Amino acid sequence: MAKIFITGSADGLGQLAAKSLADQGHQVVLHARNPERGRYAQQKVPGAEHVLLGDLSDIDETKNVADEANALGRFDAVIHNAGVYQASARDIFMVNTIAPFILTCLMQKPGRLIYLSSGMHLQGRANLENFKKDNPRISYSDSKLHVVMLCMAVARKWPDVFANAVDPGWVPTKMGGLGAPDDLQKGYETQVWLAVSEENRGKVSGRYFHHQQEKRYNPQAGDTLLQESFLSRCQDLTGIPFPP
Ligand SMILES: NC(=O)c1ccc[n+]([C@@H]2O[C@H](COP(=O)([O-])OP(=O)(O)OC[C@H]3O[C@@H](n4cnc5c(N)ncnc54)[C@H](OP(=O)(O)O)[C@@H]3O)[C@@H](O)[C@H]2O)c1
Repeated sequence: MAKIFITGSADGLGQLAAKSLADQGHQVVLHARNPERGRYAQQKVPGAEHVLLGDLSDIDETKNVADEANALGRFDAVIHNAGVYQASARDIFMVNTIAPFILTCLMQKPGRLIYLSSGMHLQGRANLENFKKDNPRISYSDSKLHVVMLCMAVARKWPDVFANAVDPGWVPTKMGGLGAPDDLQKGYETQVWLAVSEENRGKVSGRYFHHQQEKRYNPQAGDTLLQESFLSRCQDLTGIPFPP
């Protein structure tokens, strides 16, 4: 039985992954932005053990989520799932780029890390010169490139952790919209598989998956100089260094 933390698990793919893992008997810790969404998450995933609260667009609240997660002990796997698409550039930057960085740095190192990206990251640019707390000029595609870049930096620097990124496809959640053409179940199965599978194919690091198949990712994410600049820009903004 594994202990797994999933950000943004009140709804969508996070909630579905949480349900699937709890149904398999794993210890699941949910996360929601506020108490009301926390109650909703618990209703939807009654098999979960806890729900942690915090708005990931706020740096202090995100730090607090890390503290509360650490108070529960070390996790076997963390799924960085929370994300926004139709939102201000500031929220996209804070929730999609900065929150996974903060939580990765401040939480006790888990055995496995899974970062939710998107096929749209292929069109993203690192755009590091536009990293600003108040007025970032970052697109959704850029932010989804950032999480792949973070994932590949983690995979390179922490050889004792399996860190992988996932493109769930375009699926019918609140974010994807009702008309989204891809299979909803396939949209969360890969994260669940990477979190707990004992298959050798899933116990790898530094890969990008779509429907449990390895896919090519944007080469900017694998550029170690760019990764270092990315980590140092995140550190400048948050005051948090990337731990050794
Ligand atoms: N759906 C797609 O077609 C698609 C495609 C490619 C990639 N993805 C990626 O897959 C992940 C999950 O997406 P989804 O489709 O499941 O989206 P979703 O249905 O909109 O769910 C996103 C989750 O993130 C939470 N969240 C958003 N902003 C937050 C904040 N400031 N603080 C705390 N929690 C916050 C949401 O909370 P609330 O419920 O309270 O809003 C929700 O639980 C995202 O990273 C997304 O970028 C999705």
